[in-house]
Amino acid sequence: MDLEFIKRETLKDKPKDETKLGFGRIFTDYMLMMKRDNTRGWFYAAIEPFGDLSLSPAALVLHYAQEVFEGLKAYRGGGGRILLFRPWENMKRMALSAARLSMQPFDSDFLLNSIYELVKREKDWIPAAPGTSLYIRPTYIGIDPFVGVAAAEEYLLYVILSPVGAYYPRGLEPVDIFVENNYVRTVRGGTGTTKAGANYAISLLAGEEAHQKGFSQVLWLDGVEKTYIEEVGSMNIFFKIDGEIITPALQGSILPGVTRDSIIRIARDKGMPVSEKRISIYEIEEAQADGKLEEVFGSGTAAVVSPVGKLVWGDKTIVVGDGGMGQVTRMLYDTITGIQYGRIEDPYGWTYELK
Ligand code: COI
Repeated sequence: MDLEFIKRETLKDKPKDETKLGFGRIFTDYMLMMKRDNTRGWFYAAIEPFGDLSLSPAALVLHYAQEVFEGLKAYRGGGGRILLFRPWENMKRMALSAARLSMQPFDSDFLLNSIYELVKREKDWIPAAPGTSLYIRPTYIGIDPFVGVAAAEEYLLYVILSPVGAYYPRGLEPVDIFVENNYVRTVRGGTGTTKAGANYAISLLAGEEAHQKGFSQVLWLDGVEKTYIEEVGSMNIFFKIDGEIITPALQGSILPGVTRDSIIRIARDKGMPVSEKRISIYEIEEAQADGKLEEVFGSGTAAVVSPVGKLVWGDKTIVVGDGGMGQVTRMLYDTITGIQYGRIEDPYGWTYELK
């Protein structure tokens, strides 16, 4: 299949103030569009003008949420270099997500190369202000006009681009997190390990209730005992307790974050003890009571490395360290963003320079 190019007549104005991009509301001039059906296989791939989709109101995705997505970024490095961070990992995870939702496989290499072409064409949209990047959102949907419950036979796989700043409006200020005791995100065997849009839909009510109480995010506990820590939903979570960095083990319900994996590697290479294990909210409470809860931070493509200031669990408030950004959190933030923006050497082969 060849990648076509469909030119648009006029280009949009680019954001004037890159310090006010926010997250995910501005989109570039073009998108990548791929189409598949069961008779032709993947039969269409084009860089097209960004625009509305035309779908039947009966389209499967609108009824049964057969949708998965990814999130990765293109960074503007020194000298105008364009860098992507471990993009092949997002392709792998998207393939696994698609398989979990009974969606047809796609050619990951073709998709990734097409994303490279799209980003190259849209390179002038990659912002240069500190902490900004071009967020890349691959999205895969089943679109048959059919309201029976079945896996789709017709699909769209498209990629849109959005110049972004920090995910949290207050940047690197520590976020306060509500430990969710009522709703659950997933259980083992569910879709928690995938980037299915439905995972995020079911998190909204808890998120809204937490916002009303003044919290930025919800920390999910395991869906069975509501005791063991899972993730925040828009990020994985790490604790530094008595010198050790601990993150919940991937045991079948947590998203295997690319940033999470990178942080584990960096921290170990810096000589820090890192454990991936089951850890309960009781242990966190105890560590804090003993004065050993030194740092808490989240990790994600959108969130990067975000310090957590406190966790509220029922009537208990667990304040982290001195409420500021911890030293290790800062070091990990600086290292990972240093690699992503090409400011420091990448010893891992994680960065891909677009030429
Ligand atoms: C990301 O970190 O890229 C995510 O997908 C999290 C969120 C914006 C849904």
